[in-house]
Amino acid sequence: MTDDVAPSSLVQQAVDYLIPILPKRPTVGIILGSGLGTFAERPPRLTTVSYEQIPGFPRCSVEGHAGRLVLTERCGPCTAILQGRVHRYEGYSLEEVTRPVRVLAALGVTTLVVTCAAGALDEMEPGTVMLIEDHLNLIGDNPLIGAGYEFTEMAQAYDPMFLALAERVAKEANIPVRRGVLAAVLGPTYETAAEAAMLARLGAQAVSMSTVPEVIVARALGLRVLGLAVITNQSGARLSEPKGHAEVMAVAERRAASIGVLLEGVLPRLAAAKGA
Ligand code: HPA
Repeated sequence: MTDDVAPSSLVQQAVDYLIPILPKRPTVGIILGSGLGTFAERPPRLTTVSYEQIPGFPRCSVEGHAGRLVLTERCGPCTAILQGRVHRYEGYSLEEVTRPVRVLAALGVTTLVVTCAAGALDEMEPGTVMLIEDHLNLIGDNPLIGAGYEFTEMAQAYDPMFLALAERVAKEANIPVRRGVLAAVLGPTYETAAEAAMLARLGAQAVSMSTVPEVIVARALGLRVLGLAVITNQSGARLSEPKGHAEVMAVAERRAASIGVLLEGVLPRLAAAKGA
């Protein structure tokens, strides 16, 4: 799925398409992962655009990813919600996977909230919300290769002020959260027990097949990042019957309400969470 056209021109095509149809420029972007899309569905919405209409945008093929951009001011700042993402395991390059982040940045987004479903590598119960504190990029690829800004600082990629803010909001709303390190793997296979044990030894508490490439690009573009992972299953656990993506989706959908409450509490206060 490589494009003959230069990636930067595809970003520009998407931006040129979106600017005339968006009544306002977003300053905050949110990417909603597997089963977490309901936050985008609540009114009022300023604009809804299917990814298929946006030139240069990848098409979502995985269940649980609606594939549309929703613009809203429901929580204060003008926010572009990406309801669904694409993954490297679908056959997309990491340039394609992260292109929507480049588009958001070009539209004026300075803060990115990423969400995903993830498998637990420790005793975290399904349904737990993990605030991503750091990551291990184990995809074996990097979206910045050939992109012109290879040497990007990744220490404190997840904004410490945002982490503290999310913890405050979670406490006020009585939503149990904990911090942890997210490992990103290529997929689409789930981990063997040995792989899960390895990831835990490497220092990760959760594992996902997404999110980290988007964060790498966001940081390269200077965006501030908040990451929320919903634990949907135990990584590497032998299930009595194979449930796979259906199980991940069912747990994420049940937890989508908590993610919504967290986002509603955090978004109005993001701009004030300065410092670090
Ligand atoms: N492994 C990798 N990615 C995932 C998992 C998992 O167990 N659950 C949800 N996304």
